[in-house]
Amino acid sequence: MQAADAVRCERLTVRFTTERGTVTALENIDLAIPRGSFLTLLGPSGCGKSTLLRVMADLIEPSSGKMSVMGDVPAVARLNREIGFVFQDAALLPWRNVLSNVTLPLEVGGGKALPGARAPQDLLALVGLSGWEQAYPHELSGGMRQRVAIARALVSGPRLLLMDEPFGALDEITRDRLNEELLQVWASTGTTIVFVTHSIYEAAFLGQKVLLLAARPGRVRELVPVTLGTPRQLAMRETPEFVALAGHLRRVLETC
Ligand SMILES: Nc1ncnc2c1ncn2[C@@H]1O[C@H](COP(=O)(O)OP(=O)(O)OP(=O)(O)O)[C@@H](O)[C@H]1O
Ligand SMILES: [Mg+2]
Repeated sequence: MQAADAVRCERLTVRFTTERGTVTALENIDLAIPRGSFLTLLGPSGCGKSTLLRVMADLIEPSSGKMSVMGDVPAVARLNREIGFVFQDAALLPWRNVLSNVTLPLEVGGGKALPGARAPQDLLALVGLSGWEQAYPHELSGGMRQRVAIARALVSGPRLLLMDEPFGALDEITRDRLNEELLQVWASTGTTIVFVTHSIYEAAFLGQKVLLLAARPGRVRELVPVTLGTPRQLAMRETPEFVALAGHLRRVLETC
């Protein structure tokens, strides 16, 4: 394990056994994700993207091989509150207002924020929701609910933010805006981000690298570096460089 890596897996394999038989969701995954980096995961449905995130988050045990998060087993990283998770559905508690949804992780399990964690109000400002602290989830749009979920995932000051298709259900304009905001959140918090998407454009726009997974069994097909400059701007998606990158990702995906 190198201290510089936020996540490292070696020959990681995950099998699920049900009454219909055994599925190899991930097979022999070797991967190192440097601290502070932004990795996007792209691959066909069922290739193990969510499973990989769940092993990082200590929600699933590997069948064999190794996974480490921040230099330790995922369980230690989870107990130390080093991991934040954002799912496709914001899953806010409807009876709590925005602010108390964001502070929820600080209440459960008597947890405390890590040194350097931002105040809940600052996080709401960072995701563009200043003034909405007292509103209830039913008063928010889907994009606003996802912003609350991002603020909630950041409240403990995690070193690793796992995002599983967080913007998949949103319209394209909202998604574009949230993509730009997420890059600002990344730049200002320095947290490592692992982001699952089905969108080639989102994967290429957000990631420093794009990890392409192939299905059945889930395995690494290619780790593609993104050479676009920073800070990323939406207009970069029209550059020949971006179009070439998206074309490459599409061609590889077709073989996954
Ligand atoms: N808890 C489980 N029990 C049994 N099989 C599972 C379980 N979780 C996932 N699988 C299987 O493992 C494989 C990978 O699933 P996973 O959810 O990781 O895929 P995914 O890449 O996230 O797909 P999608 O893009 O549709 O979200 C699939 O074949 C799925 O059926
Ligand atoms: Mg999934």
